Amino acid sequence: MNNNSFIIKGDICYSKDINTLIASADHYLVSIEGESKGVYKEIPKEYSHLRVIDYCGKLVIPGLADLHIHAPQYSFRGLGMDKELLDWLEKYTFPEESKYNDLDYARKAYEIFADALKKSATTSACIFSTLHVPATELLMDMIDEAGLRAYVGKVNMDRNSPEYLIEESPEKAAKTTAEWILSCKNRYKRVYPILTPRFIPTCSDELMGYIKEIQKSYDLPVQSHLSEAYGEIQWVKELCPKARFYGDAYDQFGLFGRGVKTVMAHCVSSSHEELMRIKENGVYIAHCPQSNINLASGIAPVRTFIQEGLKVGLGSDVAGGSTESIFTAMADAIHASKLRWVLIDKNQEPLTTEEAFYMATKGGGEFFGMVGSFEPGYELDAVVIDDSSIRHPQPLSAKERLERLIYLSDRSTIEHKFISGEQIF
Ligand code: GUN
Ligand code: FE
Repeated sequence: MNNNSFIIKGDICYSKDINTLIASADHYLVSIEGESKGVYKEIPKEYSHLRVIDYCGKLVIPGLADLHIHAPQYSFRGLGMDKELLDWLEKYTFPEESKYNDLDYARKAYEIFADALKKSATTSACIFSTLHVPATELLMDMIDEAGLRAYVGKVNMDRNSPEYLIEESPEKAAKTTAEWILSCKNRYKRVYPILTPRFIPTCSDELMGYIKEIQKSYDLPVQSHLSEAYGEIQWVKELCPKARFYGDAYDQFGLFGRGVKTVMAHCVSSSHEELMRIKENGVYIAHCPQSNINLASGIAPVRTFIQEGLKVGLGSDVAGGSTESIFTAMADAIHASKLRWVLIDKNQEPLTTEEAFYMATKGGGEFFGMVGSFEPGYELDAVVIDDSSIRHPQPLSAKERLERLIYLSDRSTIEHKFISGEQIF
């Protein structure tokens, strides 16, 4: 029996489905070689020989999934909140991302990012880097070193970008992207490359064609942005007159689900037709409520996503969002859904705690495989939280304590983290 086989005792919480949250005080979570064998009130006989790690009185939850975060933007989180998307990109984001051409700067910045992500409750993430390959590889090395599970993407952008942050040509972009993919092969434990066309406005048809070729050659997943802001959506209409809608512009190149694992951030203003294509193609949505508020993009119709049965998880979208905390993303998703309900559509009921927690765990986790729950067969990704500093005079159930955490958590409560049964800290 190896080191990844043990039992965790604690107040164990996880989602069974989007409406069912299990919260069991003083239970036992069995991990065999990095995989969950389930949660029990008493230790089953067959596991009685295993070491028990006692986290009595602490909450134990599945690691959280962040389906959309920009590593190079962590440096300016909380700054530059006075613009909408396109102006924000031009004024703050592109100048900052251009600095990652300098490996010394990249090292300094990515060390801070990797350390923050390691100490957060996030165990799985879809990460954008910049278009620079050496800095992207450095980022992947650091995320691997931190023990996290992640898809990391070198960004592709070859048009409508400033001259200081643009690929030389579509051919050169394709060549460097393919070389980068090869260099990542068998290099990491749980870090994988993901194709990352930044968004339609910055990717020429030629480049999209090359990206599809690389996708097919290496069977890679895809991440990008979709229907985030009004000005962006209008621009895509002008740039792609042949596309029926924004998502169709990705689909025409075979970079929108249909067997290609794809995650699109935002979908704030997707049409019904676009949502139906997302569903048909099995595309995941990264719902990023704080970014949508900070950049004044709007409020995504997350109740509709759920009612239509779309695959949806949460994203921090740092630095559109100011924090990497997926607890905050859960609270923001609930807040935003209430505003949408009260101000825009009384038929779209606000999100419940169960739904927000599901999106942050099992919903988003699905993008990474059997991730985001403690049901048997899932990767043993667990976060141990000591919430004793959040004081209360009355008795609270494990479920109430979890609910409170969504609103009150801060990093200091996160005490231990396990990924695939490996203790990260
Ligand atoms: N669309 C294209 N690039 C970006 C980015 O960096 N952040 C967000 N939020 N949207 C984008
Ligand atoms: Fe983004």
